[in-house]
Amino acid sequence: MALINENYLKLPGNYLFSEIARRVEQFKAEHPKADMIRLGIGDVTRPLPGAVIEAMKKAVDEMGRPETFRGYGPEQGYDFLAKKIIENDLTPRGIEAAVDEVFVSDGAKSDTANFQELFGLNNIFAVTDPVYPVYVDSNVMAGRTGVHKDGKFDRVVYLPCTEENGMKPALPSARVDMIYLCFPNNPTGMTLSREELKKWVDHARENRSIILFDAAYEAFIREDGVPHSIFEIEGAREVAVEFRSFSKTAGFTGTRCAYTIVPKEVKVYDAKGEGYSLNSLWLRRQTTKFNGVSYPVQAAAAAVYSEEGKKQVKELIDYYMENARIIREGLRKAGYKVFGGVNAPYIWMKTPDQLSSWDFFDRLMRTANVVGTPGAGFGANGEGYFRLTAFGTRENTIEALERIATKM
Ligand code: MLT
Repeated sequence: MALINENYLKLPGNYLFSEIARRVEQFKAEHPKADMIRLGIGDVTRPLPGAVIEAMKKAVDEMGRPETFRGYGPEQGYDFLAKKIIENDLTPRGIEAAVDEVFVSDGAKSDTANFQELFGLNNIFAVTDPVYPVYVDSNVMAGRTGVHKDGKFDRVVYLPCTEENGMKPALPSARVDMIYLCFPNNPTGMTLSREELKKWVDHARENRSIILFDAAYEAFIREDGVPHSIFEIEGAREVAVEFRSFSKTAGFTGTRCAYTIVPKEVKVYDAKGEGYSLNSLWLRRQTTKFNGVSYPVQAAAAAVYSEEGKKQVKELIDYYMENARIIREGLRKAGYKVFGGVNAPYIWMKTPDQLSSWDFFDRLMRTANVVGTPGAGFGANGEGYFRLTAFGTRENTIEALERIATKM
């Protein structure tokens, strides 16, 4: 008889977005004629940019000819892509990174979920509440979170993001080992200023904590003064790792490509106080458990940085951010209180009539046939809130807001 990894028994329910998909499927089975609009999971709807498609086709052709065929690539990604990333995403913002500090992967979800493997099980970590559920669930699976009681794990430090604090978490009151931060934030759509992010970097340096910074939504920042990378902050190379993605930026949710920056200075320690570079450990982990992203996909990702590619990606982002504006303003006009959606593709709204977030999910699905994400799925402080994404089509976004204004 094989025994279960009992940590899996501590997971509260299904993965959030699987649970939503399940409820929507059930509703559709009962109401086959319902014209559903999905603004739940942050999945893009615009096709891949033309420059990306061209590069991918060319790479596929190369794979079909003996003289240009490629087998296994480097597990951490091809240099040609890492160099383009550095030249375009990092150097212009004054961020220094070497090619071997950039790890190309199949997604920020897998990287943020896997990275915790490099840390001891006794480490205490902090997350914002609400939070992208992958950070907590992956630590539950690893056995780092303790007991689940009253909606919380007793070995996790939750940093509330509430209306009172403007959805900006306070620093942990006691020292923690690992801190997950995501800005622009999923789910609230809110950001930190450079000064605010600096406080986190300084705190991590003073406490020798490590910040796991998810910057998957940085391309949606519209306002000046909002950092696109934690490495824009002095000293961050000693204490931070950053996750980035082509998914939302360039339409890669179904194509899969992302990257993680792991500076060589960031260290974890053994019981004797000897330090080990996270960069070497992550390389060891990736070379063992991952065989890299396919060549055509990396070639496609590199095309995001061509002149044409940059123009087309900008158009994509403008398109989604216009959706964000339509949602934000439409909800406000309909009398809802809303957050986010200015520098992020997520709009975080208060549920009306004191409805629980799952009750509002049901009401919206049944009355308006619009699907969103209940805030409670992101943590206890998400209760009473609801998330809509700007990643729908323009037509659906306008129609959804029309239905919310007239039917709800
Ligand atoms: C979300 O809706 O929060 C995202 O799509 C989830 C993800 O990127 O994995």
